[in-house]
Amino acid sequence: MPRLLNVYALPGLIDPGELVGGTAVVIDVLRASTTIVHALCAGAREVIPCEEVDEAWALAAALPTNDVLLGGERKGIPIEGFDLGNSPEEYTPERVNGRTIVFTTTNGTRAIKCASEARRVLIGGFVNVSAILQELIHTEQIHLVCAATAGQIGRDDVLLAGMLVDRIMHESGMIGRQNAQAIVAREEWLAAFAVPTAIGGERLEPHQLADQLCKSPGGRNLTAIGHRADIDAAAWIDRFDCVPVFDPEKNRICLA
Ligand code: MLT
Repeated sequence: MPRLLNVYALPGLIDPGELVGGTAVVIDVLRASTTIVHALCAGAREVIPCEEVDEAWALAAALPTNDVLLGGERKGIPIEGFDLGNSPEEYTPERVNGRTIVFTTTNGTRAIKCASEARRVLIGGFVNVSAILQELIHTEQIHLVCAATAGQIGRDDVLLAGMLVDRIMHESGMIGRQNAQAIVAREEWLAAFAVPTAIGGERLEPHQLADQLCKSPGGRNLTAIGHRADIDAAAWIDRFDCVPVFDPEKNRICLA
């Protein structure tokens, strides 16, 4: 049974030292964490998260050209000169198998760095939610870190955090201690999809989830720039059965 379950709706709400010794899950449903899951499940060897575009160029330049691809976005748009943007479906086996992806996004890769002090850092989306849940169920201290969008709380991230809180409570019966944001996230999730659906009594249709994700700042931005298909991809619950793990010492994300 988890002794502690905290949600942080923004990375800035994490107090220094708060994650130490725990397991953190970094959540950026639209789209960084969803895209990282896609990339690794499509056979990418590893993802190297970077906060800045210049840092990404420098890291990529130090790697063998045939091994590396640059991916990411600024303002949702692919970065000039990069090989890939931040659309999950771009990361196909044909494009990424065996390659190292040097990856920078506006909020997601920063949130990954913010979670570095945790004992274990996992990357979660709706696309791998059950695999994440299995990792968490016997974990004592859980921290769900939402990337948010430019300092604004993201409904996309909070809904996934709420779903995880609900599923953890359902599977383990009890949680020792949880913060107020964990309670609010779960209430958001239950209010959005009604209790029977949320606890697994009925199937949640992908379009129902995608409609909710569209209401987040990230969802509105993606719709405005013509990336609605990415929201549908992010709403595909359990498309993959894998857990990306970030190693802060090596600055690499690989599959567990
Ligand atoms: C981010 O990291 O800020 C997001 O993934 C943004 C996006 O996908 O456009």
